[in-house]
Amino acid sequence: MSFTVVEPAPARLNRSEQAVPGSNTRFLEKAAQGNADIVFLDLEDAVAPDQKEQARKNIIQALHDLDWSGKTVSIRINGLDTHYCYRDVVDIMEQAGDRIDLIMIPKAGTAADIYAIDMLCTQIEAAKGYKKRVGFEMIIETALGMQNVHEIAAASKRNESLHFGVADYAASTKARTTNIGGPNPDYVVLTDADANGVRERHWGDMWHYAIARMVVAARANGLRAIDGPFGDIKDADGYRAQALRAAILGCEGKWAIHPSQVDIANEVFSPSEKALATARAILVAMEDAKKNGLGAVTLDGKLIDIASIKQAEVLVKTAEQIAS
Ligand code: GLV
Ligand code: MG
Repeated sequence: MSFTVVEPAPARLNRSEQAVPGSNTRFLEKAAQGNADIVFLDLEDAVAPDQKEQARKNIIQALHDLDWSGKTVSIRINGLDTHYCYRDVVDIMEQAGDRIDLIMIPKAGTAADIYAIDMLCTQIEAAKGYKKRVGFEMIIETALGMQNVHEIAAASKRNESLHFGVADYAASTKARTTNIGGPNPDYVVLTDADANGVRERHWGDMWHYAIARMVVAARANGLRAIDGPFGDIKDADGYRAQALRAAILGCEGKWAIHPSQVDIANEVFSPSEKALATARAILVAMEDAKKNGLGAVTLDGKLIDIASIKQAEVLVKTAEQIAS
């Protein structure tokens, strides 16, 4: 290991993160009763400018009146380039700062963006005498944010997670998309022609680089990496496939922009029984290896070593978190 120790963010389940517009009181009520690990109550892009003030009031009311137990609650504030932003932080933190767990900072562009929100939260928490300190989730959704992703990830002790905001990211980078967070059928590799002259089209994953880059920045700073929205809410298979791709790259959760996506995310980001059984077998086999003075052994014909212990422990720990 490096002499530099990476401190992990507070452990939270973050398999599903449901987006709920603050302007809709019925949706707020339903979200409090739903199955999402984290619910983010939105003041930003799902709320029209003339509804911003009312949405803030709705959210504060909902934080006081509804039962959010069993859930992590986050508030997505407006971007730092808008005049809504300071008022979002001040009103939410002053009136309900002890009832939320996280603030989600959209369109994070530089470390200074995080610093500014940290300063405001720190002052309000001190003034109000709150015991609990709010954590931060940052959406990486602009070219500037992706360029500075490592500095953003390291910008505050409050930081807990990075999120890939694919819709704004596509707009910012001028990428060509057909469905928010899904593949583009034109992003293909053509195979060579077969004996009949037929060439196959293999769809590629146009989000691979962005997600992988965000995952590295998150993990290097002890943060969770979370995949963002998938726009085609009728396409459960497409959502599942994207969630799996993100999971394989190291994300531990995905947004749900519709309640129907929550259970799929919870399932995809939970270790399967099979994976769990393998992880437990690895831990037993490595315990035996240690007793015999070995650093590596084979299990079911595959080499496992000390690095395998860490992977297995992550799975077992996640399963324990889910069960608790
Ligand atoms: C989320 O905010 C996105 O832009 O995808
Ligand atoms: Mg966005």
